[in-house]
Amino acid sequence: MPILTRRTLLKASAAAAGGFGLGAMGNMVSAALAVPDPEILRTTKTTARLTEAEPTRDVLTYGEAGMPPVLHMTKGKPFAARLVNGLDEPTTIHWHGMRVPNKMDGVPFMVQPYVYTGDHFDYAFTPPDAGTFWYHPHCNTLEQMGHGLTGVIVVENPDDPRFDAEVVLNLRDWRLGGDGQFIAQFRPRDAARSGTYGTVRTANWQMEPQYDAPAGGLVRLRIAVTDVTRIHALTLEGAAADVIAIDGNPVPQRFALDMVRIGPGQRLDLAVRMPDEEGAVVTLRDVRGTKKAALATLRATGSSLKHELRDLAALAPNPVPAPDVAAATHIPLALSATAENVAANSICGSLGYSFWAINKVPWPGDTSDPTAPLAELKLGKSYVFDMENLTPHAHPIHLHGMSFTVLSSSAGPVMPLVSDTYLLQPDEKVQLGFVADNPGDWLLHCHIIEHQKTGMTSYVRVA
Ligand code: C2O
Ligand code: CU
Repeated sequence: MPILTRRTLLKASAAAAGGFGLGAMGNMVSAALAVPDPEILRTTKTTARLTEAEPTRDVLTYGEAGMPPVLHMTKGKPFAARLVNGLDEPTTIHWHGMRVPNKMDGVPFMVQPYVYTGDHFDYAFTPPDAGTFWYHPHCNTLEQMGHGLTGVIVVENPDDPRFDAEVVLNLRDWRLGGDGQFIAQFRPRDAARSGTYGTVRTANWQMEPQYDAPAGGLVRLRIAVTDVTRIHALTLEGAAADVIAIDGNPVPQRFALDMVRIGPGQRLDLAVRMPDEEGAVVTLRDVRGTKKAALATLRATGSSLKHELRDLAALAPNPVPAPDVAAATHIPLALSATAENVAANSICGSLGYSFWAINKVPWPGDTSDPTAPLAELKLGKSYVFDMENLTPHAHPIHLHGMSFTVLSSSAGPVMPLVSDTYLLQPDEKVQLGFVADNPGDWLLHCHIIEHQKTGMTSYVRVA
């Protein structure tokens, strides 16, 4: 007897349903063609070997064990996933950076009901953009993401240039004690500053993993910072590399990697030219702050392919509409600290504190009755966020549902990057332009999750 996997079970039940609906057979067949089999994403509690100590208990993942799978999608092709909740608390999935319909966005209360223990929710959408994205819950985010629920998404564009190899890196920390077990996910005094850092740093749930790649070959290195707190300053040692995309979108002009600062939620795609000598090692490092670290290495194998970065064709831009800056309406956004405590209890977790505010309003948490939207936007019109950081800390600010273009910054000249997350430095003022082309309520929040959960969250309404 064949082993029934969930996927074959689903197929079998779909066939059975077709068998009963004889009159509607034609419809059933065409519907089956249009909708792909859903990926089953089951949230599970597991153990994982993350340190030299005992395996870590109470790790959360999608699937049976190990890191959440890298999801592969194709630009312009329908995708479907069924979230099955095997946790003992509610959850949802948010598709970070993907311009999906509002009801697929995964924000509880605002756009979808919680998915309770044992229940499921079907997500279906067609990715309009190619690039590196990621997925995570939008409920009890500090605990659920902190314990493992962060996965990478690769959206292929069949027209992209061919690389000799591709390596995907999911960069994240874990807050573990010396015994390899979780310790408290945050400290209030750190949540009120730059956030509480993890103690163990991993790439793909391993400490400093090594990947083989052909000597003299071109590697597409897709990096996602899925950590809840840590801002990285990334460098690559031992090879030449070009930055080809940031936050899923091709950069307007490719440039040689020196050091790139990226915050939680952000992605960096590099074209790496492997060294010619077999065995040579290329090291990805975080050189920010006092805790510098090697994160992962690539090792050259075989005899040199002698491929060159300059021969690599450009990536095609994503079809993100350009804002009409002259006609745009400006929306001021001031990020500040607050002492006002309005943290509401929430089924999606509350840290019990308010430290932060957007336009002086601290977000009360995921409740049925949040604050009013920051702004009501007219569908199809152009807008500019005039965003200002009045705090002494950096904040990676993420907008759901729409991508913006970086127009200008008080910190110096900017490249017109298309993105979903902007890492705003202390005292920086930035202008982010976008077309309000996706109807619905769209969250805007800091992706340092302690900041998100202690006030630095709001939303815009597009109608
Ligand atoms: Cu990456 Cu509101 O999320
Ligand atoms: Cu922040």
